[in-house]
Amino acid sequence: MAQYTKRIIAPSLLASDWSRLPEECSRAIHAGADWLHCDVMDGHFVDNITFGPQFIECLSKTNDIFLDVHLMIERPDHFLERFIKAGADGITVHVEARHDVSETLRRIRTAGCQAGLAIRPESDFSLVLPYLDQIDLLLVMTVVPGFGGQKLIPATLDTVRAARDWREKHGLAYHIEVDGGITHETTPAATAAGANVFVAGSSLFGVPDMKSALTEMRRL
Ligand code: DX5
Ligand code: ZN
Repeated sequence: MAQYTKRIIAPSLLASDWSRLPEECSRAIHAGADWLHCDVMDGHFVDNITFGPQFIECLSKTNDIFLDVHLMIERPDHFLERFIKAGADGITVHVEARHDVSETLRRIRTAGCQAGLAIRPESDFSLVLPYLDQIDLLLVMTVVPGFGGQKLIPATLDTVRAARDWREKHGLAYHIEVDGGITHETTPAATAAGANVFVAGSSLFGVPDMKSALTEMRRL
């Protein structure tokens, strides 16, 4: 069975209470999270700054869950080794960042990590076409990257559909991940468009009963 037929729920730590990080990670794991989504931001590629390799290392040492690291940074190639050493399981880099995309993806796979490629809402799907046979996951940003709590941009689901159609047509097997504004309201449309990995911050970490919210999201 192709990997992308499995629904994967990845709560985004950006929306968690960082003053209680160990408890928040346990909350997500006990709620049934498949992955923990870690948004790395450098203040250049996006207008926000979050955390770096040392933060990922702490997560990796204290939790036994797949760390889905989303590098919203200008130079993912320059920092790649440090995220690999830190224990990232999946590393997703932006096609719009300043690096040799194929070379970065190759290095991620050589290190034994899942290779992901991300595309911003305003970018044309054609930008990722040259790389779709080199990835394990395509991350379609469904909000402008940099902040949680935004509304899903409906036009981004056209990119999800195009990615699914391209995958079928070319016999490829990458996951399709949607990231930003994923709630109980938007999950059905994202699923219908072809997504199988759902990143959710506000709608999971932001609610008291994360387990019910996550179970419900898995069902939709
Ligand atoms: C935004 C991040 C998203 C964000 C999702 O740049 O990539 O992962 O944390 O947060 P919500 O689910 O609140 O939109
Ligand atoms: Zn993200």
